[in-house]
Amino acid sequence: MKDQTADFFQRYAHDFDAIYGNKHSVFNALINKYLRTSMRLRYERSLAACQPIADKTVLDVGCGPGHYSLALARMGALHVTGIDFAPAMIQLANLKADSMQLNDSCEFTVADFFALDDTTHYDYSILMGFMDYMSDPLQTILKAVSITRHRAVFSFPSSTGILAWQRRLRYKKRCPLYLYSRKELIALFDQVPNVTYTIEPIARDFFVTVDILQ
Ligand SMILES: C[S@@+](CC[C@H](N)C(=O)[O-])C[C@H]1O[C@@H](n2cnc3c(N)ncnc32)[C@H](O)[C@@H]1O
Repeated sequence: MKDQTADFFQRYAHDFDAIYGNKHSVFNALINKYLRTSMRLRYERSLAACQPIADKTVLDVGCGPGHYSLALARMGALHVTGIDFAPAMIQLANLKADSMQLNDSCEFTVADFFALDDTTHYDYSILMGFMDYMSDPLQTILKAVSITRHRAVFSFPSSTGILAWQRRLRYKKRCPLYLYSRKELIALFDQVPNVTYTIEPIARDFFVTVDILQ
């Protein structure tokens, strides 16, 4: 399962990056407007959630081509760690960091989230477009929360609506995909100790903000 997801994202890296605005891509021209809206909203909300950012550290889990990490580094984060198990994604992220001269504050590494050591903590954690591919969401959430000092943000794809059906079909040949209702998310996050959380519907996703109780 994990290999199938890693293989898919290794092949998909350039097309995925194109969603963010490579004008020459055919994929970019065809991509669904609703998907773009959702991606824009979760991007804006993630950056807003990581405030204040000065002198803070961030973990960007499944960072893909690094757009969130780079934006947070540019906004003044002390250090941003982006991890992704698809080397092609990390290569794209590193190229961007080079051209933006953000290598000092941004570090991109090929790594599996579940192999990450639990001893390093981050002020903020971002898991955007990541939970879609997690077979054990509770274990994933608990690990993210356990290494976060202040706040973790997650996106979850909604299981309802035309886009959900279209996506289920599209992913049949790609890799396993997991979609959620609000009720399922409440049931999940209610199991996480020592946090408060909010669930906000945004286009095709839910945006979940988890604050760690000090
Ligand atoms: C849809 S992309 C989202 C990229 C980025 N967060 C964004 O929203 O622009 C999901 C990424 O998660 C990565 N991923 C999935 N499972 C992972 C795991 N167990 N460890 C590390 N990366 C993983 C994939 O390789 C892929 O690049």
